[in-house]
Amino acid sequence: MQIMQSDLISAELRNRFKHASRVLVLTGAGISAESGVPTFRGGGNTAVWKGMPFDVISSATMVERDLPAVWEWFDYRRSLLQKLQPNPAHYELARWADVFQEFTLVTQNVDGLHRAAGSRDVIELHGSVWRARCVSCRTSYEIIPGERRPDVCVGCGGSLRPDVVLFGEMLPSGAFEIAAERAQACQLCFVIGTSALVYPAAGLPEIAKAAGAYVCEVNPEFTPLSALCDEVLTGKAGEVLPLISQ
Ligand SMILES: NC(=O)c1ccc[n+]([C@@H]2O[C@H](COP(=O)([O-])OP(=O)(O)OC[C@H]3O[C@@H](n4cnc5c(N)ncnc54)[C@H](O)[C@@H]3O)[C@@H](O)[C@H]2O)c1
Ligand SMILES: [Zn+2]
Repeated sequence: MQIMQSDLISAELRNRFKHASRVLVLTGAGISAESGVPTFRGGGNTAVWKGMPFDVISSATMVERDLPAVWEWFDYRRSLLQKLQPNPAHYELARWADVFQEFTLVTQNVDGLHRAAGSRDVIELHGSVWRARCVSCRTSYEIIPGERRPDVCVGCGGSLRPDVVLFGEMLPSGAFEIAAERAQACQLCFVIGTSALVYPAAGLPEIAKAAGAYVCEVNPEFTPLSALCDEVLTGKAGEVLPLISQ
């Protein structure tokens, strides 16, 4: 079985992995599935909080209408996430930061598991449940696991809200632009555990491909991006990723 799995990685990919200096990785909910976080389309989107569907309680409208209820929901989500651990895929990507001259990790996830695995400078396109943000001056505050979450901005006294991109909101300015620049410049691009339906994030592998990068997908299922990829590794991220650098 082990031999069959190693055969999954082509000689071409191994060679490119060995020689690349600029690498970009885009991850989605699937990379955290083996840690026990439900994916969006795998059940996460059917969650209901106090009778409110996921996309209502996690919406910009709800922040304006009932911020304490939004916090209750995010406090609950953090309490679940706090018990979970990064999996071998998160740890493998944390190691890749030392392998390449320029390594960019872009995630759509808000669970903080890349950071928990040791990745630094993660571009969190959709924010993080482990941060709060002032609604007035946008100052961001870390939420430390096990500690009381800050509830008011020390700078301006404004209310804090989860620093997460909610339904009906735009991505924070800057983050995507940096990711797009890195995608444009990378030689090797991995798309891991994303259904590749949410734009602009799903546009990053397209930018990389158009600029001449070798694009590799890791996912147990095919996605709308599979056809664009040079190589599709069909399998679970936690099992496939550690094989690539072997
Ligand atoms: N962990 C999180 O932070 C989290 C969880 C759910 C949703 N979200 C948000 O919801 C949106 C949904 O988009 P998405 O594309 O990230 O998620 P998605 O649920 O739409 O897609 C998940 C993808 O992961 C694949 N997958 C499942 N198990 C896998 C595994 N073990 N290894 C590799 N791939 C696996 C599935 O086949 C699917 O293609 C994102 O914007 C994200 O911010 C985040
Ligand atoms: Zn403030």
